Amino acid sequence: MKLPKRNELCWCNSGKKYKKCHLRSDENGETAPPGVMEGLVRKRTVTAGIIGPPRLVPDDIIYPEYAKTGIVGDRRMSCRKKTEDEINRMRRAGRVARQVLDSVLAAVQPDITTDALDEIAHLATISYGAYPSPLNYIGFPKSICTSVNEVVVHGIPDSRRLQRGDIVNCDVTVYVDGMHGDCSETVLVGEVSREAHSLVQVTWECLMKGIDIVRPGQRLNEIGRVIESYAGKHGYSVVRQFTGHGIGGTFHMDPYVAHFYEPANKTVMEEGMTFTIEPMINCGSPDSVIWPDKWTAVTVDLALSAQFEHTVLVTGSGVEILTGGRDPWFLRG
Ligand code: MF3
Ligand code: CO
Ligand code: CO
Repeated sequence: MKLPKRNELCWCNSGKKYKKCHLRSDENGETAPPGVMEGLVRKRTVTAGIIGPPRLVPDDIIYPEYAKTGIVGDRRMSCRKKTEDEINRMRRAGRVARQVLDSVLAAVQPDITTDALDEIAHLATISYGAYPSPLNYIGFPKSICTSVNEVVVHGIPDSRRLQRGDIVNCDVTVYVDGMHGDCSETVLVGEVSREAHSLVQVTWECLMKGIDIVRPGQRLNEIGRVIESYAGKHGYSVVRQFTGHGIGGTFHMDPYVAHFYEPANKTVMEEGMTFTIEPMINCGSPDSVIWPDKWTAVTVDLALSAQFEHTVLVTGSGVEILTGGRDPWFLRG
């Protein structure tokens, strides 16, 4: 494997010089997985655009604890079983997240910038009296995440225009009534390749298969088992660096929800638990690299990645999808 020279472009395709990007972390042995240089047969389709200033939230809206400082409390703090009142507030947060996501999805078309999608989401969110949860979450600068093509997750909305043939995941989280609701969909921009179409559809099926087995008494690792096995049958890989998560008054908390099989995870689902399932499925390697913006995760081999997400509640008899609603685009005909 040959690494770039200091002034050459970084191997991660960020477009930055190697010395300004991964040089230090490579020297520390933290990055540049063996084989990464040989693996780069594809061209990147996404480069960082201009990120506008954070959008403002009116001060009569109730902010989550990190909104002013960017500092997030203990994620292991988890109230796993929710009370009836908390569940009702989760239902409301889930409904609002779904409505905001639907407005964003309706606006996706060639030539729109991801920043314009962020604006639509932001205005819709505050119109419901809700706070856009990503905004200033550990310093995240925008109100939603938009992840295009080889971007796995946490893409920052910017001045890049969507192009025919792109796929884009729009991930909306809102905070309302003291609870977070979190959901995402990947949609097609105009006509896309057959490869992209199939990846997106299988990824949605992975989410639904994961949700289908949720019920009290079920082992949590069953979700990853069914998802990994279904993705593998189609020749796709499952992202391991990012997982689903418990959700409630805290954005991310225990239990984390792996989308691959973890035999040693003994957690059992209980009535009243709320968590997300949000598989990220790749056409190539499961591994990603993070851009210097500290957020954007891109597949290491630049292969396509897709994702869908719902927030779910474990009920007495099974599961309730709190962010459900319309079917995704490919079921609507
Ligand atoms: N919505 C993402 C999730 O599904 C998290 C985004 S955090 C952010 O968990 F800071 F990147 F916005
Ligand atoms: Co999300
Ligand atoms: Co989530």
